[in-house]
Amino acid sequence: MTTTIALITGANKGIGFETARQLGARGMTVLLGARNEDRGRQAERELREALGEAGEVRFVPLDVTDPESVRQAADWVDKEYGHLDILVNNAGIARGAPPSQSDPDQMREVYETNVFGVVRVTNAMLPLLRRAPAARIVNVSSEVGSITSQTDPASPLSQMRASLAYPTSKSALNMVTAMYAKELRDTPIKVNAANPGYTATDLNRHSGLRSVAQGAEASVYLATLPADGPSGILWGHLWTTEGPDDAYGTLPW
Ligand SMILES: NC(=O)c1ccc[n+]([C@@H]2O[C@H](COP(=O)([O-])OP(=O)(O)OC[C@H]3O[C@@H](n4cnc5c(N)ncnc54)[C@H](OP(=O)(O)O)[C@@H]3O)[C@@H](O)[C@H]2O)c1
Repeated sequence: MTTTIALITGANKGIGFETARQLGARGMTVLLGARNEDRGRQAERELREALGEAGEVRFVPLDVTDPESVRQAADWVDKEYGHLDILVNNAGIARGAPPSQSDPDQMREVYETNVFGVVRVTNAMLPLLRRAPAARIVNVSSEVGSITSQTDPASPLSQMRASLAYPTSKSALNMVTAMYAKELRDTPIKVNAANPGYTATDLNRHSGLRSVAQGAEASVYLATLPADGPSGILWGHLWTTEGPDDAYGTLPW
């Protein structure tokens, strides 16, 4: 039996760690990407302990903003496994200020991780993903990047404070997702964007309302789509003023 190989970036904590745990629990070999050696090794130990015999876990040094680090990670995956079945572009940072007070340098910093980092990692891994029978790419985005929701008075998103760097980085990531899906539409590779929903992690000083187990569900769902599943959508938690707290589906771009 061949084992599914899944690489998750920014997997030393938060939603990424939990995504690695849930994929590992399905028996996959989980490549736990982390930019810091100590944090990565610590997470590798914790995940091995959590999974027991269920799945293999291996730490991969990977800073998505560093081309050399990304190249080395791709070379290592190639040498060790020769292909990659699942790439979850999860690493992300959040900074933000209202547009009138926003500094382009701060935007550039956020885009470097949330947008350019995804392109850098995806392009480095694409030759390996093409060698898999049916690869899946998941870009961890957010409903805050949905222009439709942000401008719909009926959406809770429209009530949020206007902020520039983070939401626009996720809007860009949404289009990045759509463009990769378009380029790869005649291949078995599916490329989708995940919306975890507002999840309690370090990113928001644990103010999120959802658990990491819930937050990781969208990434895991999209990472394990069947052959007839969609490509080029934003899918995940649906935050509405009415309706159930835990509804999932396709979100508007
Ligand atoms: N929490 C939410 O409510 C929420 C909602 C929607 C979307 N998201 C998205 O979900 C993803 C995960 O966020 P989270 O909430 O789990 O946040 P988190 O707990 O802060 O985790 C972020 C992860 O990304 C890593 N990272 C940051 N910059 C990196 C880089 N240059 N290279 C490699 N790794 C890097 C961090 O590593 P270090 O530990 O080294 O900093 C950490 O492992 C992000 O893309 C975020 O935008 C979160």
